[in-house]
Amino acid sequence: MGSQTENLLAVIDVGSAKTCVIVAEVNDYALRYRGHGISDSRGMRKGVIADLDKAVDSIKKAVEEAENMAQAPVEHAVVGVAGSHIRGVNSHGGITLGSRSREISRDDVRLAVEKARSIAMPEDREALHLLPQEFILDGQGGVRDPAGLMGRKLEVRVHIVTGGATATQNVVSAVNRAGIHVDDTVFEALACADSVLQTDERELGVCLVDIGAGSTDLIVYYEGVVIHTGAVPIGGDHFTNDVGVGFRTPIPDAENIKKMFGCVIVTRIPEGNEIEVPSVGDRPSRLMQQRLLGEILEPRARELMELLRDHLRQAGVAELLGAGVVFTGGGSRMNGLLEVADDVLRRPVRQGYPVPIAKLPSNLLEPEYGTAIGMVLYGHRARQARMNLDRGLGAKIKALFARQGT
Ligand SMILES: Nc1ncnc2c1ncn2[C@@H]1O[C@H](COP(=O)(O)OP(=O)(O)OP(=O)(O)O)[C@@H](O)[C@H]1O
Ligand SMILES: [Mg+2]
Repeated sequence: MGSQTENLLAVIDVGSAKTCVIVAEVNDYALRYRGHGISDSRGMRKGVIADLDKAVDSIKKAVEEAENMAQAPVEHAVVGVAGSHIRGVNSHGGITLGSRSREISRDDVRLAVEKARSIAMPEDREALHLLPQEFILDGQGGVRDPAGLMGRKLEVRVHIVTGGATATQNVVSAVNRAGIHVDDTVFEALACADSVLQTDERELGVCLVDIGAGSTDLIVYYEGVVIHTGAVPIGGDHFTNDVGVGFRTPIPDAENIKKMFGCVIVTRIPEGNEIEVPSVGDRPSRLMQQRLLGEILEPRARELMELLRDHLRQAGVAELLGAGVVFTGGGSRMNGLLEVADDVLRRPVRQGYPVPIAKLPSNLLEPEYGTAIGMVLYGHRARQARMNLDRGLGAKIKALFARQGT
């Protein structure tokens, strides 16, 4: 294998449950899958790295598998950042161009955006994304790309996605320690939106909810732009732990039982159904009522949805979700979860699946791979925008709107 050529694109999603690497190739602007690797994540707790060495090993394993399949080395990659430390804030800023109208340059646009980002941020946080929502030219809002237009005053509204500095740096360090240079970091829900949401949903207003193992990340779009990002500190692992405690069974067994027999609507489980539950230590396994499993899982599902509802209300976006809520991530596969979501949130809900890219194996078209596939699309779009900018086409700001296909 030679060195990673210019037209290869690799992404790494270091999740709490699994680490997923996808390698794609870009030819004449077309994107094609080349290979992937998946390993069980070790050293992760609640969506962030707790044991660096273990995390590095998981990354190495997934990378090696992807390299073998793609028949190319992975030397640099786009890396995902997620977890309860993610918070989004809306900000506003601008510049005065002079007393007379003049043409707005790219540098003016950049300067205006810089002004909007210069809000006081605690030292332990860093900005992951600066997503322009609209430009306001001489008091007139709704401008998408002001470069080339005439005006005297340029203002901009931006959504700033911030992450805990250490959590972000730890993901980057782990990937570096696995021998890979990090080209870019991306908030995972933002990338996931690329593969799971439709354009009209973003226009009407939609919340994408990625229920992972350690946390639930979310992003809200309205009128085509990002208006809110955040996270709720509950993921699929909490459901598994509840089963482990409630059934007094080891965690790996609790995980299997949850996936095979779990349902978050008690009344949907026939009375009298029994399941075999392994015991801790050397004790023999026992038969337990499947309904009991529902009784353990339903309150957790309701708690998650209530936290989500309160989070969206507090952010002031609950009334803006004309297209409802789209659920993705492995945790969203829990039986009955969408019905509970519908009941608590009172919005249209659907399960989100990633769109396929050329040659992608069909077993990756599952909710838990929406993020990694979205990262490929995001990485491709960012690279194209950079190339266009180099050519003076100035598409970067448009790309920053995080819209599909721009
Ligand atoms: N069929 C299923 N039913 C219920 N839960 C499931 C099912 N399949 C997967 N899960 C749960 O989904 C979670 C893993 O989802 P995913 O792979 O999206 O997480 P991750 O990306 O590794 O974690 P995170 O995004 O929090 O870092 C686990 O908690 C797992 O138990
Ligand atoms: Mg995830």
